Amino acid sequence: MRLQLATWPDIETYLESCDAILVPIGSTEQHGPTGLIGTDAICPERIAAGLAEEGALVAPTISIGMAQHHLGFPGSIALRPSTLMAVVEDVVRSLQATGFRRVMFLNGHGGNIATMQAAFSEIWSRASLEATSSPLSLKLVNWFMLPSVRRLSRELYGDAEGSHATPSEVALTWFAYPDARRDATLNPRLAPDGPIRDAADFRRRFPDGRCGSDPTLATPEHGERFYRAALDDLRTIWTEFRS
Ligand code: NI
Repeated sequence: MRLQLATWPDIETYLESCDAILVPIGSTEQHGPTGLIGTDAICPERIAAGLAEEGALVAPTISIGMAQHHLGFPGSIALRPSTLMAVVEDVVRSLQATGFRRVMFLNGHGGNIATMQAAFSEIWSRASLEATSSPLSLKLVNWFMLPSVRRLSRELYGDAEGSHATPSEVALTWFAYPDARRDATLNPRLAPDGPIRDAADFRRRFPDGRCGSDPTLATPEHGERFYRAALDDLRTIWTEFRS
């Protein structure tokens, strides 16, 4: 069930038997010359939609994340870490206020991880500093780090997976939106790797926006395999989390 397609009585009924919800979270940022700007939001949203079809309650995707280092490329939108922490906390506290106790985020952007963990710590700190015990259970799952996904990526791409504008995420967006497929010759074929600092530095180090990856290896068929692999792992994690 998708939250935005439900009514409040639907949710009231749902909460009688389950207090867990899945929130996809991503980013809106450049993904190299062939990757979609929405890649990091599209991937977790597509996987979560699969779980929603099996009965999980899925919230609207938080589509803008901590992506300051991508602002050297047009089309990227970024929240500062402090803003994203506030967004995550307000989402969690809204859900808590209306009866949810378990909130699991399915994340599609590596740049969100540290900030989300800090947001969780901020939420826990409130209870700790007031010497109360929070009833909340929070979990962060990064789809691209799921064991089945990692296995498949190693098998299909080896070191050409890289870390940004990866063939696995590009493949999954092409499975979700087949008409969005772009083919291009990328030079160099394997993008450079290096540290991530500010946006100007990022553009100097990674001129076409990719980090260590060769997304020309991606196909929509691979994307379907990534979708199924991620959904299998996520189903297991969700089943344990909700009970
Ligand atoms: Ni990405």
